[in-house]
Parts: sequence; structure tokens; C-alpha cells
Amino acid sequence: MKVTIVGAGAVGATTADNLIRRNVAEEIVLLDIKEGFAEGKAQDMAQTAALLGFESKIKGVTSDYLSTAGSTVAVITSGIPRKPGMTREELIGTNANIVKSVVENLVKHSPDIIIVIVSNPMDTMTYLALKASGLPKNRIIGMGGTLDSARFKYQLSDKLNASAADLNAIVIGGHGDTTMIPLIKHSTWNSIPVTDFLTVEEQDEIVHKTMVGGATLTSLIGTSAWYAPGAATAAVVESIVRDQGKLFTASVYLEGEFGQEDITLGVPVIINKKGWDRIVPLHLDEEDEEKFRKSAEAVRNMNNVLKE
Ligand code: NAI
Repeated sequence: MKVTIVGAGAVGATTADNLIRRNVAEEIVLLDIKEGFAEGKAQDMAQTAALLGFESKIKGVTSDYLSTAGSTVAVITSGIPRKPGMTREELIGTNANIVKSVVENLVKHSPDIIIVIVSNPMDTMTYLALKASGLPKNRIIGMGGTLDSARFKYQLSDKLNASAADLNAIVIGGHGDTTMIPLIKHSTWNSIPVTDFLTVEEQDEIVHKTMVGGATLTSLIGTSAWYAPGAATAAVVESIVRDQGKLFTASVYLEGEFGQEDITLGVPVIINKKGWDRIVPLHLDEEDEEKFRKSAEAVRNMNNVLKE
């Protein structure tokens, strides 16, 4: 089984590293537009095989889509990341052109491909990928909510002094500082609502820190993060390749679910060899329903920029 990763930068390379260490695919193709860049990253990673003991093969190429032919999954991370003070939405112009051409090239060589979009603004890039590819909706998955949910669990585990593995907590809505919705009222620690352990102020603090989680890292590091984004992307790819049927929040095309239509937005989905297989319904209260509606409105406004 072959997995292609487009963009050998921070997130693309970290995704590849996570995948090869776990032998998720027999072959990984890392593709970048920068001459020699993906080749170098791939060789560097391949040279860890003797030390880490994996069998996966990794090959780097410069814009050679023929090498991606027959891929089961592709991850798109190509584009520019944000700098301190920038929003994800400011990346739209540059990244839209890149994502569109990458999608067309991928589909040309792998018509049955499942595409995972990482490039920002992710929800809008996912919508664009769906329209540009002509692929069935289940084969286009936007990765953002998986990362935001992991960051939410980190904030909860930090405050509760709990293991992140014992927490059930998800973030839905758009993948933006103001559009994501950490569902604290739905979150549990070993099946007990986390709200039983936290004051209202503590709950608000956790939600806030989750929402600005990416921006906090960007201001600390000087560019956007890659370890958790790479791990989150690899987890989604693994669930597809190994047909695991795991539950993730992913940006998928809605046709009436959660009261929204003709938009891709973060909702809980089961991910397996079909791509995203089905949406898992949630019972949102009025407050969270209103937040979801506002999040959809913001993402829809961003999608409309594409049509201008
Ligand atoms: P980066 O700058 O390290 O890597 C991007 C790579 O894309 C570069 O190596 C560049 O040469 C390559 N590239 C540009 N145009 C290309 C093209 N036409 N074909 C092939 N390769 C091309 O950036 P980083 O940090 O890896 O971030 C990548 C994207 O992912 C950004 O848009 C960033 O905002 C987004 N991101 C999304 C997250 C999410 O949760 N959805 C989380 C973190 C980052």
C-alpha cells in the first residue's frame, strides 16, 4: 500500500516519520516543489530504519506525480504556514492555488485515492479539494479537529492531573481560533463528566487555551507547530490504511447533518478504508448549536472568497 505526502515541510515530514516508524504503509512517497528537498528529507528518514527497525520504504521526489501513481491515500500539507500574529484564514490566496493544482495532479495518477487535507485554512481547502477533485465526498477528509481535540485533551489532562488516554473530549466546528468548539459539557474522565471536577472559571480557561492552542505555539516557536499536527495526521491515515474504524473529528461534507449544507466542517466521523464512513450524531444543547451555526457561517464566508 502506498501513501503520498505532498509538502515535505514541517508537518509533511513529521507525518511521514510517524507513519514509517509504525510500518503503516509499505511505501511512502514524499513530494515537494523545492528541488531536492523531499529527496533529502526522505533519505534522512530512511537512514533511521537500521536504528528504529521499521520496514516501510520512503522515497522523496520533486514534483514528480508519476511516482505517486496507485496511492491509496494522499496527505496535502503543501502551502505556506502562518507566522506569529497571522490567522489561518490569511493563507487562503496562496494555498488555494497550490491545493487545487496538487489535487488535480493526484487524482490524475490515482483515481481511487482518499485525500487528507492539512493545508490552511483547512475547512475551506477541504471544500476546494472536494469540488476540484470530483471525488465522492467520503474520500475527502479535512484534518484539524483531530489536532484540536488532542490539544483539548492536553489542556484537560494538565488541569485535572489526569492521563490524556483516560479522557474523552472532542472539538467540533471550524479549524480556526474563533470557529472551533471544544465540547466541555460532553467531555468525560473515565466516564465521569469533567465538569464535576472543574469550576466554571477553570472550564472557561481550558476552552480558551484550547482555542488559542495553535496561536500560542506559533508565537513561541516563530512558525506553526508540527509534532502534534504530524501525529494527528498520521493517526487519521493509519485508521484508513488499517481499516481501524476509529472515531475522529474531521472536516467533511455536510448535506443536512448538524443543520448545515454544502459546507465541509468538523464533526465526529468514523474513519476506515472507505475514507470517512459515517457521521456520528451528537445531541448539542442550544448554546453549542448556536456556536456551530456561527462557526459554519464564518467558514462559509471564507469559502465565498474562493468564488470571488
Ligand atoms: P512548511 O513551510 O514547513 O512546508 C510546506 C511545504 O510545502 C514546503 O516544503 C513547500 O516547499 C511545499 N510546497 C509549496 N508549494 C508546493 C506545491 N505546489 N507542491 C508541492 N509542495 C509545495 O509548512 P508546514 O508547517 O509543514 O505547514 C503546512 C501547511 O499545513 C500550512 O498551510 C499550515 O498552516 C498547515 N497546518 C495545518 C494544520 C491542521 O491542523 N490542519 C496544523 C499545522 C499546520
